[in-house]
Amino acid sequence: MQTVINKLIPSKLSSANSVKPKKSIISLAVPRSASDTLANVSNLSIYFDEVAAVNNVNLALKTNQIHVLCGASGSGKTTLLRAFNRLNDEFDNCHTQGEIALDIRGELVSINDLTAKQLPKLRRRVGMVFQHPMLLPGTIADNLLLPLNVSCNIKGSEAQQRLEKSLKQAALWDEVKARLNAPAASLSGGQQQRLCLARTLALEPEILLLDEPTASLDPATTEEIEQLILQLKRDYSIIMVSHSKQQTQRLADSISYLEHGRLV
Ligand SMILES: Nc1ncnc2c1ncn2[C@@H]1O[C@H](COP(=O)(O)OP(=O)(O)OP(=O)(O)O)[C@@H](O)[C@H]1O
Ligand SMILES: [Mg+2]
Repeated sequence: MQTVINKLIPSKLSSANSVKPKKSIISLAVPRSASDTLANVSNLSIYFDEVAAVNNVNLALKTNQIHVLCGASGSGKTTLLRAFNRLNDEFDNCHTQGEIALDIRGELVSINDLTAKQLPKLRRRVGMVFQHPMLLPGTIADNLLLPLNVSCNIKGSEAQQRLEKSLKQAALWDEVKARLNAPAASLSGGQQQRLCLARTLALEPEILLLDEPTASLDPATTEEIEQLILQLKRDYSIIMVSHSKQQTQRLADSISYLEHGRLV
């Protein structure tokens, strides 16, 4: 069976594995039913210039759970989160050591060894919602339809269905259904945050990275989003950052505390 992950791995690298076995790229196909491992993080250190933002982190995470990363400001939470879809690669001054093996469609894949060309696919599978909403220029609808078109070649009625479904999932549909062609920048901060969540959900990832997803929301919307996150874990594995002890208690299946880049 040709899984998407086969497409992520060029045959050249797969055959290199058979000549010189190494744990990287793919540590053999493990059917999802036989393993509930979402991620194995081994000796992960992430440096900006020569300063470690994440320092020798080892973690084992399970699928269909909510993993919460906690810690003081600057402790490395966002940097660790970005490692799961290789977004730190976008910083020229960033350098990563160690390994993350991630379950994608039932196979553990060492994401360190994916090539730059393979990263867009990884990032569709491992979707991220950022700490600060990052809107695309254009309308509310554009923010959903453009990525669907460009990343997945989904247009027309299927795109419209995904738009509606994801806006409902993100508890935003009722507020925007009458103004889908209004500029996205006209939304409030909390609405922009939910639009970004909807945009990520519309691409139907397998793993969700949520960086303080309720940071700019009022208590009622926070509760709505927390309920949504609890529902989403049936279908997704979620790694999220939270500053709130109460939220962490409400949502977390497992918790990692970071202090100066180290797990404590
Ligand atoms: N692109 C970058 N270039 C240089 N240093 C960076 C970069 N991104 C993060 N850092 C540094 O890495 C450290 C960890 O930052 P990170 O954003 O991961 O912290 P955080 O725990 O998410 O903090 P907060 O709770 O404030 O969001 C900080 O010292 C930060 O200044
Ligand atoms: Mg952060």
